[in-house]
Amino acid sequence: MSTAATEPASDRAKGDRTRGDKGEVLVDVQDLKVHFPIKRGIIFDKVVGHVYAVDGVDLQIRRGETYGLVGESGCGKSTLGRAILHLEESTEGTVTFDGQSLTDLGGEDLRKRRRDLQMVFQDPMGSLDPRQSVESLLVEGMKAHGIVGDAEAAMPRLKQLLSDVGLPAAALKKYPHEFSGGQRQRIGIARALSVDPELIVADEPVSALDVSVQAQVINLLADLQEEYGLTYLVIAHDLAVVRHISDRVGVMYLGGIVEESDAADLYANPLHPYTRALLSAVPVPDPDVEDTREQILLSGDLPSPANPPSGCRFHTRCPWRQESRCDDERPQLRLVEIDGTTGSHKVACHYAEQIASGEIQPHDVETQTEDKPKELREAEGDEVADDIPFT
Ligand SMILES: Nc1ncnc2c1ncn2[C@@H]1O[C@H](COP(=O)(O)OP(=O)(O)OP(=O)(O)O)[C@@H](O)[C@H]1O
Ligand code: SF4
Ligand SMILES: [Mg+2]
Repeated sequence: MSTAATEPASDRAKGDRTRGDKGEVLVDVQDLKVHFPIKRGIIFDKVVGHVYAVDGVDLQIRRGETYGLVGESGCGKSTLGRAILHLEESTEGTVTFDGQSLTDLGGEDLRKRRRDLQMVFQDPMGSLDPRQSVESLLVEGMKAHGIVGDAEAAMPRLKQLLSDVGLPAAALKKYPHEFSGGQRQRIGIARALSVDPELIVADEPVSALDVSVQAQVINLLADLQEEYGLTYLVIAHDLAVVRHISDRVGVMYLGGIVEESDAADLYANPLHPYTRALLSAVPVPDPDVEDTREQILLSGDLPSPANPPSGCRFHTRCPWRQESRCDDERPQLRLVEIDGTTGSHKVACHYAEQIASGEIQPHDVETQTEDKPKELREAEGDEVADDIPFT
C-alpha cells in the first residue's frame, strides 16, 4: 500500500506535492488560436472555411488565483478552456504550464501532466457515467495516475474527498441518478480533486443548477481553493456568477479577450463598450441605482465566428465605433492608464481613453448584414438561392 493511499487528499495537497509561489504565473497562453475547419462534400472533404473559435488569445493565470472568463454563447470560452488543458488541438500559439510547454507535449509526458489539469463540466449528469458508482468514478483517475492501487486502499482518501465536498460517505455506493443536480456537481468536483490537480477549469459549473444551489457550489469551490491550494479558470456567460469568486476577470468576444483586469476594477470601471453593455444588462438590487444607471442595448446578434468582422470584431455592434480605424484595424489588448483604474487594466479598444473621458459619445448603430461567401453559408446549412442571371 502506498503512503499516499492512507493520506487524506487535503494533506497531500498541503504536503507531498511541491507547489510554487502563490502569485507567480502558472499558465501562460501566448497568441493562442483554435480554428475548426468547415468541410463540405461527400467524397472529398473540401475545406470551405474555418470557425475562428479562438483567434489570438494572450492570457496569464497566476498560481492560487481565480480567473473568471465571461462572454456570450459561442464566443469561444469552452474552446479556450479545452485548448489550455490540451483537450483541443491548437492551430497556433503556445500554452505553458508551470514553465513547461504543453503545446508540444504528447504521449506519456502529456498523460502524466493531465493529473495537474482537471476540468469541472457544466452538465454533471452528462459528464458522469451513469453506470459507474461514485466510488468507481472517483477511484478511476487515482488508479490511472498510480495514486492508489485499488478501491480498498483508496477508501480513506475517498471518504475525505466526499467530506470535503459536503457529501456523506454513504454516497460512495450510489449512482449519479440518485443525486440532485447540486450533489452531482459536488461529485464532479470531487472527481476533479481526486488526483490532486493544480489547475481546475470549471466550465459553466453552476449554469445548469437551480439558482438556490448555485451560490452553495460557488462557495464550495472557493473553500476548496484555499484548502487544496488550487488555481481556477472559471468560465461563465454571466458576469454576476464570476463576480464574487474571481480575482481577475477576462471578457471574451468572438475569439479574443477584449478586456481584463482585477475583478473589482472591472465591475467598477468597465472600459470596453462590450463589457459596458454586458454589465448594463446585470440587474442592480437598489431601485434608485437601477433607475439611473447606464443602459446599453446591443443591437444585432453575435456575428458568426466563421466570418468575423474586419478590424475590431465588435465594430458591427459598437455604439462608439469610429470610421474607419474601427473597421480596418484590429485593436490589441493593451494596458491603459485611466483615472480610477488600477495599473493592470487591459482593454482592446482603439478609443478606450476617449470613451472613458466622454470625448467620444455613443451613437445609434446601423445593423450591418454579413457578407458571407456562398460556400460558407451552404456549409453552415443556410438556405442559399442559386445565382440567377438577370434577363
Ligand atoms: N469541434 C468543433 N467543430 C467546429 N466548430 C466548433 C467546435 N467546437 C466549437 N465550435 C464552434 O466554435 C465556436 C465557439 O464555441 P465554444 O463552445 O467555445 O463557445 P462558448 O463561448 O463556450 O459558448 P457557450 O457559452 O454556448 O458554451 C462556436 O461557434 C462553436 O459552434
Ligand atoms: S475599437 Fe472601435 S468598434 Fe471596437 S470597441 Fe473600440 S470604439 Fe468600438
Ligand atoms: Mg461553452
